[in-house]
Amino acid sequence: MGAVPVFADIDPGTHLLDPDAAEAAVTERTKAVVPVHLAGRPADMDAFLALGARYDVAVIEDAAQAIGAAYKGRPVGAIGDLGTFSFQSSKNMTAGEGGAVLTNDEDLAAAVYSLVNVGRVRGGGWYQHESVGYNLRLTEFQAAILRAQLARHSQQQEVRERNAALLTKLLGNVVSLAPDDPAVTAHGRHLYLMRIPALAAPGRRDAALRALAAEGVAEVSGGYVPLHRNTALTTEARAIADRLGQPYPQSECPNADAVSKDTIWLAQTSLLGTEQRTRGIAAAIAKVVSSLAG
Ligand SMILES: Cc1ncc(COP(=O)(O)O)c(C=O)c1O
Repeated sequence: MGAVPVFADIDPGTHLLDPDAAEAAVTERTKAVVPVHLAGRPADMDAFLALGARYDVAVIEDAAQAIGAAYKGRPVGAIGDLGTFSFQSSKNMTAGEGGAVLTNDEDLAAAVYSLVNVGRVRGGGWYQHESVGYNLRLTEFQAAILRAQLARHSQQQEVRERNAALLTKLLGNVVSLAPDDPAVTAHGRHLYLMRIPALAAPGRRDAALRALAAEGVAEVSGGYVPLHRNTALTTEARAIADRLGQPYPQSECPNADAVSKDTIWLAQTSLLGTEQRTRGIAAAIAKVVSSLAG
């Protein structure tokens, strides 16, 4: 979009953007801050709204993984100025691809409508184009698929919630989990994130994932590249900064570095299984973790 992304560190306990780190990265050029409700756990929206107000920057919620999540009783997505959702194939509600943007601001709604709708003007003529936009429209076919999923979403969330609670009961002393937070009144349950410090040594996590697969649990993943080390993003960000004649703000994100080495996760589809399957997954993880310790 022609903006320079500046990465700020996360809270290693929750994997979520740290509001203090985000604030330290704000300059007079900052236009927006993008807290990500990673895994379906709402970010600290009180702190991000305060930051947005203090520096007059927009707050854009990345709610791609957080359909159904709520912060202090408010569903995520329209707490900040804008919120983005993903219906890509891995998500709790999917149309194969696609997404939605929420806002409570009429002007922003009109701007987003125009951007995704080849520059058309909301309420305007079919051939009335007043700014350049893209064809990013969700089709009626996709919308029909999503409506059916919306109808069963809360019932599926109950299953995910029940299985996540069981995993927490069985694994709470085995792996490191994000602490409970009363502000998280509903968790989107997209990913079940686990930190296992013993996996940080080179090669250990891959070996653990192979061992889990041998136990019949092939659906555990690990290995995001932290964004401040993502070659595509840093190359592009530097190029944009050069074009604008700005210094490129080199990010130090030691917490993101640390969790990127020792985190594994189960995806939402694994949280839809039976109680027996969930117990089997927990037993396999406990077995592999205890073999690492031995
Ligand atoms: C946190 C997060 N943000 C953004 C995206 C991008 O969404 P999409 O693939 O619909 O563009 C994803 C996943 O795809 C995601 O997990």
